[in-house]
Amino acid sequence: MTGWIVPRSDTDLAAAATTLFAAEFGVRPDGVWAAPGRVNLIGEHVDYAEGLSLPIALPHSTAVAVRGRGDGRMRLRSGLEPWDGAVADVGPGAPAGWAAYLAGVVWALRRTGLPDSAFGVDAAVASTVPIGAGLSSSAALECALALAVADLSGLPADDAGRAVLASCCVAAENEVALAPTGGMDQAIALRGQAGHALLVDSADGSVAAVPLDLAAHGLTLLVIDTRAPHRLVDGQYAQRRRSVEQAAARLGVPSLRHAVVGDLRRLGDPVLTRRARHVVGEIGRVRETLRLLESGRIRDVGAVLTASHVSLRDDFEVSCPELDSAVDAALAAGALGARMTGGGFGGSAIALVEEGEVDVVAGQVHSSARASGLEFPAFLRLGDGGRAARRIA
Ligand code: GLA
Repeated sequence: MTGWIVPRSDTDLAAAATTLFAAEFGVRPDGVWAAPGRVNLIGEHVDYAEGLSLPIALPHSTAVAVRGRGDGRMRLRSGLEPWDGAVADVGPGAPAGWAAYLAGVVWALRRTGLPDSAFGVDAAVASTVPIGAGLSSSAALECALALAVADLSGLPADDAGRAVLASCCVAAENEVALAPTGGMDQAIALRGQAGHALLVDSADGSVAAVPLDLAAHGLTLLVIDTRAPHRLVDGQYAQRRRSVEQAAARLGVPSLRHAVVGDLRRLGDPVLTRRARHVVGEIGRVRETLRLLESGRIRDVGAVLTASHVSLRDDFEVSCPELDSAVDAALAAGALGARMTGGGFGGSAIALVEEGEVDVVAGQVHSSARASGLEFPAFLRLGDGGRAARRIA
């Protein structure tokens, strides 16, 4: 039997977070805020190279019930290890674990000029974004709290305000959780638009909504959580980022956004060349995808997704047997294209499929994992996609 991870309505999610909040703290929260998980359609491992990516918000969200305290202290609750502390206790590596993503956001928001005393919080979390599945559960957590604090302290939450919040969330992730990620996940969680993918240009931080109505074309995106655990704080992600920065330095350009394939032979080193070839090629594939979407040739995007997977698997070497098995099985079952999505080394894949064939493709991905002795994957439907960070109660 294939297992589906279904989203909850905002009302249900708000009720779950409120119930936990009331049980933990004995009072009602000031409100509940939510932010979505994401899949990246294409543009992988390029955000830290000033590249282009095209993420989409999932209908699965993380909700945070929050009450402002006004004393700079924090009490953070979820189903995991609770954390109590103050802004002064937060710094590189502290707290560890899930609480880093919330405490780190409060810590980073100091840079907006608010005094610590303005935003102590009690917070309780409820979520349908699977953790460690490469679907940005951490960015969803950060962005929901960032918006909560902004609303409670009167910070602007228009797109410019949200861009500032997104950079605080990235700082939390880089400087407190010590995961050296780029900014794509926070951009989509805070600045996405319903019914659209978001073109994120990491060279200047600008975003543009790209209409994406797969259903109108009889298509859908199947998300496959391979259940192979994925952790960005492990060394491999950081190592890839270093290689990309090193390649740019050797070529004498500020980032690989400024390189073309012809430049790469000057790198000499075969590993650096392959890493850089992925980045330069992937930015080209994002442009190609935009052209295909604009001209309504959505089915042709499938081949571009598959080419992205091959590059991530062979040149960038961030795939793994579970992701390759999911992609190969989806393609064999008739998917128009498939690729790993997110940081890799485990986590999730996406497959572009005809709407009527979702169950067949999911069934074959499941059977193939079983035949190879792999963990059974779980599946998510993108449906109409999700909504960016918002107040839900
Ligand atoms: C993770 C990071 C993002 C991005 C992707 C790979 O999701 O958080 O910043 O680098 O990996 O595209």
